[in-house]
Amino acid sequence: MSSNHINAQKKDISDKIIIAGDPVRVKNIAYNYLQDVIKINTIRYMLGYTGYYKNVRISILSHGMGIPSVSIYLTELIEFYNVKKIIRIGTCGSVLHNIQLNDIIIAIGACTDSNINRIRFNNYDFSAVANFKLVLDAYKISKKLNIPVHIGNVFTTDLFYQKDKKIINIIKEHRILGIEMETAGIYFLSSLYNIDSLSVCTVSDHIESGEKLSYKERESILNKSIQIVLETICK
Ligand code: HPA
Repeated sequence: MSSNHINAQKKDISDKIIIAGDPVRVKNIAYNYLQDVIKINTIRYMLGYTGYYKNVRISILSHGMGIPSVSIYLTELIEFYNVKKIIRIGTCGSVLHNIQLNDIIIAIGACTDSNINRIRFNNYDFSAVANFKLVLDAYKISKKLNIPVHIGNVFTTDLFYQKDKKIINIIKEHRILGIEMETAGIYFLSSLYNIDSLSVCTVSDHIESGEKLSYKERESILNKSIQIVLETICK
């Protein structure tokens, strides 16, 4: 038996899972950092793997782009596969001058222009926050590894190609650290299902200056954040 979009057996997915948008990133992380890797998903090429990091069994699965896509995978992971701890490793854009390409952001909370959380929360404002222990663990681990991180709010958008400069200025005025496309949805579902989640993003583009990392550079800079994420999920 498997779920609608994941063709793994129940026993083949750990209750600790790392998720990432890009299937190629997932495959690279699995084969570069885990031992005894098995493939757990092939549907839609949203690749997933289970293996061991320092003798702890963890899974890693791709989730595509945006809240609708990540919500499908998260719901199936939680409802069908009983996943309890989820960390997203992703990329984001930034508009702040003190945040550079390659910087790492730990998302304590997520604002959003998406209506999805409101649809599920009787049209009220839901405060989308990370699990506190995961934030604390990730922070302590980053200190120990001597990897600097920024900790604060991100903005989860439905629009990668945002034409409205007003919203970019508002994001800047409110000192939002990064713009990405999934975290507010992940934190909502984690709250609904009482599981622990965290989102860790590396800055891949600076929206004001137009600087951006190439696809190849993006994959190599994730090396620092993956260390934080692997140590945190195993703790
Ligand atoms: N916007 C939204 N999502 C992103 C961005 C961005 O600029 N960069 C990486 N993910």
